[in-house]
Amino acid sequence: MTNSRLPGLHNLPRAERLTRVAQAAGLDAAARAHLEAAAAHDGEIADHLSENVISVMAVPLGVATNLRVDGQDVLVPMATEESSVVAAVCNGARACRDAGGVVTEADPPRMIAQVQVTGLEDLSAARDAVLARRDEIAARCNACDPVLVRLGGGFRDVEARIVPPFLVLHLIVDVRDAMGANTVNTMAERIAPFVEEITGGRVGLRILSNLADRRLVRARAVWPAEVIGADVVDGILSAWAFAAADPYRAATHNKGIMNGIDAVGLATGNDTRALEAGAHAFAAQGGYGPLSSYEKTPQGDLLGRIELPMPVGIVGGATRAHPTAQAALKIMGATTADRLARVMAAVGLVQNFSALRALATEGIQRGHMGLHARNVAIAAGATGAQIDRIARAMVERGEIRENVARTLLDEMPRKGR
Ligand code: MEV
Repeated sequence: MTNSRLPGLHNLPRAERLTRVAQAAGLDAAARAHLEAAAAHDGEIADHLSENVISVMAVPLGVATNLRVDGQDVLVPMATEESSVVAAVCNGARACRDAGGVVTEADPPRMIAQVQVTGLEDLSAARDAVLARRDEIAARCNACDPVLVRLGGGFRDVEARIVPPFLVLHLIVDVRDAMGANTVNTMAERIAPFVEEITGGRVGLRILSNLADRRLVRARAVWPAEVIGADVVDGILSAWAFAAADPYRAATHNKGIMNGIDAVGLATGNDTRALEAGAHAFAAQGGYGPLSSYEKTPQGDLLGRIELPMPVGIVGGATRAHPTAQAALKIMGATTADRLARVMAAVGLVQNFSALRALATEGIQRGHMGLHARNVAIAAGATGAQIDRIARAMVERGEIRENVARTLLDEMPRKGR
């Protein structure tokens, strides 16, 4: 059995770490060589980004075409291992393109930091005491990040919520082009002694809230009935009504939306877990429901809308440190976090449209599984031209499984291999 005690692993150079792990886990030479080769290019960057790094897990970076957001064309880099996610954006974007593409609105980039105050006897008095010192709180928060203030960001407000038995302060901070976690966490930590002084309580947690509902983005698009068909308009309306009525369906509906949003988030070095947490917590306000909605216009076309938090940045963190993220932002032409957030909301909506169109018509298996079959063929050992040939054969049989792929591979004439 593997011994998980590897003392000093983090102090070793990456190559030696790999050796230690390979020994401990009994990795064969081929697996070890693969991990070594995979890290050949980006291993050093990876080493700076995380801990105990032994290699790099490469994820395909695709580019979605056809999208127009707020009157401007945009090529969208998407990092995802899931088949048909990029194709879905290309197709959905093409179908609404001539009707104007996607139009967005975005809140200013405000994040919330929470400060939990414990040990209070009179919560209302403590709340009033905090609100009376708003200006001093503002000054202390802004002193944490003068550069941000110079760039037009900084403290915007303090709210005091009674969440018995605690008083919970919300520092509302405009983080400009950053995702903002570090900025607001620093403010929350620095303000803590002052909060204790004002309230007479004890500060517990000081951390941002991932329910980033002061940083919402809204997007909408029209898909003309003459482009997608009147039946598809009705099919999508019914698919949406299902999600609106049933949280089991809404979870899957929103998962499809996040397929697109996370892929852009990952490509641009953003925190996909923060995106997920924010989206689902927002979807759960007032009972879990779909993040998008659809209606029929008086002309019989399909109008889709989406609204969700979009805590993303173009400075700091992996976005700055990772050259791939930098290249991705250049491909998009995103020079502000605001533009990135709007494009991501547009991608979520278009992704959702395509998923619902497929589900409401032929089902997703034909398109989705066709692409998935390629992954299965690769897993079974197919290479080069074999991949498409075996994927096609599995789709034709309606059996997309690794054992089927292996049998097909074995049956292939030697010269065809
Ligand atoms: C698959 O990753 C995403 C879908 O399930 C989304 C949906 O059902 O709306 C196709």
